[in-house]
Amino acid sequence: MANDGKQATWGGRFSEGPDKLMLAFGESISFDWRLAPYDVLVGKAHASMLAHIGLISEEDRDAIRSGLDAVLEDFEAGKLELDIACEDIHMNLEQALTKKTPAGAKLHAARSRNDLVATDMRLFFKDACCRISGHLTALIKTIVAQAEAAQDIIIPGYTHLQRAQPVSMAHHLLAWAEMFKRDLERFARVADEANVCPLGSGALAGSTLPIDRAFVARELGFVDAEGQPRITANSMDAVADRDVFISFAAACATCGVHLSRVGEDGILWNSAEFGFVTFSDAFTTGSSLMPQKKNPDALELLRGKAARLQGNLQTLLTLCKGLPLTYNRDLQEDKPPVFDSFDTLAISLQVLTGTLAGMTVNPAKCAAAVSDPLLLATDLADYLVAKGVAFRDAHHAVGALVGMAEKQGVPLNELPYADVQAVNAAFAEDWTEVFDLERAARLRQQPGMPGPELIKARIAAFL
Ligand code: ARG
Repeated sequence: MANDGKQATWGGRFSEGPDKLMLAFGESISFDWRLAPYDVLVGKAHASMLAHIGLISEEDRDAIRSGLDAVLEDFEAGKLELDIACEDIHMNLEQALTKKTPAGAKLHAARSRNDLVATDMRLFFKDACCRISGHLTALIKTIVAQAEAAQDIIIPGYTHLQRAQPVSMAHHLLAWAEMFKRDLERFARVADEANVCPLGSGALAGSTLPIDRAFVARELGFVDAEGQPRITANSMDAVADRDVFISFAAACATCGVHLSRVGEDGILWNSAEFGFVTFSDAFTTGSSLMPQKKNPDALELLRGKAARLQGNLQTLLTLCKGLPLTYNRDLQEDKPPVFDSFDTLAISLQVLTGTLAGMTVNPAKCAAAVSDPLLLATDLADYLVAKGVAFRDAHHAVGALVGMAEKQGVPLNELPYADVQAVNAAFAEDWTEVFDLERAARLRQQPGMPGPELIKARIAAFL
């Protein structure tokens, strides 16, 4: 079963090539191919640095840089043959480069795949955070547009999935927008965490060669707001550290939780039992058996995908737990969960955007759901408090009225005034004015509340 070709990049001390099983088991090219553009960027920056410190000639530098561009072009055109005998993207690209130019053999001076993979991945994370942020921004825009249209739609807000208090549907939708705004900020923090250059850490102990780490960091855009290079402080930590992998996966998992909660709200609202909204045909599917069905599969899948995002985070935490410093080959398993989280989240965000863009509100159903005067029982207690009644007494009095209405079989606001007055003398004849949704909305005017002016201002702040 031995592989007859000797392993090209590290084969020097081996007299036999790896077993075919070992090749299949150890390769990562089947998933780390997507690091190719970053690996080329890093290679070009490294070559420039080697020339800058006089370790290679300018001709070699230029041959390496244009060679890497040509290799990437081949790769992107599907013309680069990727070989599992070269294990991963780093060795495949180096081999392809060296085939194009003998100068390629000089590129790996003062670097290791350990600091290379750490650097490539940090570039990947910066890019991934930027792309996810783009999808989040589009989603927030869609939600806010729906909120703008739903300002006059009043629905029950729920606790314990029981009708609690009336709110503008816009306020509920803007709550979703706040969740995704926090995700946006979270991904910005992850991008900042990724923005430190580990290249130059070597395998674990740097290099005896007089490299210029700041030069490479600057070339690759690992700089702070003032343009100063940001480089890792400890070569052992730099190649062993996978914190940013975990931070990225955690941000994806948290966003997944948000997606699944919004998905669940949408599923409930779309059900016949609520009937607040319907979704477009484009993001719903039918049943193979029941001809009448139109199912909110997109939203259900968002709930399902959230499980994967959580699983990926768990995989990374478990992978790193108890690993001795520094690099261990286990760490090759760090990439599939990260790539899967990125892909899963990217499509999920776009699907939710499409689904919500096609959401139609049913005002009659919303009005019916919010018509029960019991939803304003708290406002009635507030009414008493405003008249000087202690809140606990007010709560008790309104509770008594609710019980009375139930017994008499009438809506809360239709109880005879005499009965109401008997429960608490602070009830004046204007007590029924509380049962007005417009009033309920208008009075909620402190920061963060669903008052119409506040909602307008929050929408404006998002736009
Ligand atoms: N493919 C490897 C990974 O993704 C690259 C680093 C290999 N380093 C080593 N010492 N074998 O982790």
